[in-house]
Amino acid sequence: MENQVNAMPRIGDKAPSFSAVTTQGPINFPEDFKGKWKILFSHPADFTPVCTSEFMTFGKMADEFEALNTQLVGLSVDGLYSHIAWLRTIKDKIEYKGMKNIEIKFPLIEDITMNVARLYGMIQPGESQTSAVRAVFFIDPQDKIRTILYYPLALGRNFDEIKRVLIGLQTADNFSVALPADWRPGDEVIVPTAGSCGVAKARMNGEEGKMKCYDWFFCTKELSREEVESKLGK
Ligand code: BEZ
Repeated sequence: MENQVNAMPRIGDKAPSFSAVTTQGPINFPEDFKGKWKILFSHPADFTPVCTSEFMTFGKMADEFEALNTQLVGLSVDGLYSHIAWLRTIKDKIEYKGMKNIEIKFPLIEDITMNVARLYGMIQPGESQTSAVRAVFFIDPQDKIRTILYYPLALGRNFDEIKRVLIGLQTADNFSVALPADWRPGDEVIVPTAGSCGVAKARMNGEEGKMKCYDWFFCTKELSREEVESKLGK
């Protein structure tokens, strides 16, 4: 069993279901979070520095994810009492980069059997046989996996990017657009051409004048930050 590796879920797959014990009680994932976006993420180990810096950052940003109708769920192959002791230490003792008294209110899964970590391809034996890598699964309200990020053990995640991915996915869905490199709310968006007839539709709606075309296959239009903000998370 030592080297058992599951087929990894992929973008577009339905999020595999599981039941687990967490710091917030038992959960059935993803069923308990119907109608919400979910970010399921793993960390290698409790009481380690990179993971501590990440948890403090997630804790600090929890309200921002909540405002985007998104449930955070963490996981490591540690046990429940380790999780509880670590989160208490973070809250009571650690001050880091201006963050202090950070209370983690989202569920943190205990996965000592590694069953969930294996189900989600979080054990990547070339990196570690005994702990999960830093995986981030973005799962939409229909329980479909929409983006997967992996980081190695020694590199903490970029939380601006995690939030940007979430906002980008919600924007693409809400406005039927695609998003160019390094897109952020307020930047121009791409009007789909092939397949979805986005450019033809814009023409029919009399919006052609608002489009900027770099070539026949590459057209953009304005989408204000306010329009994005007014739709997201809903
Ligand atoms: C850390 O979070 O600091 C860490 C965890 C596992 C391996 C290396 C670093």
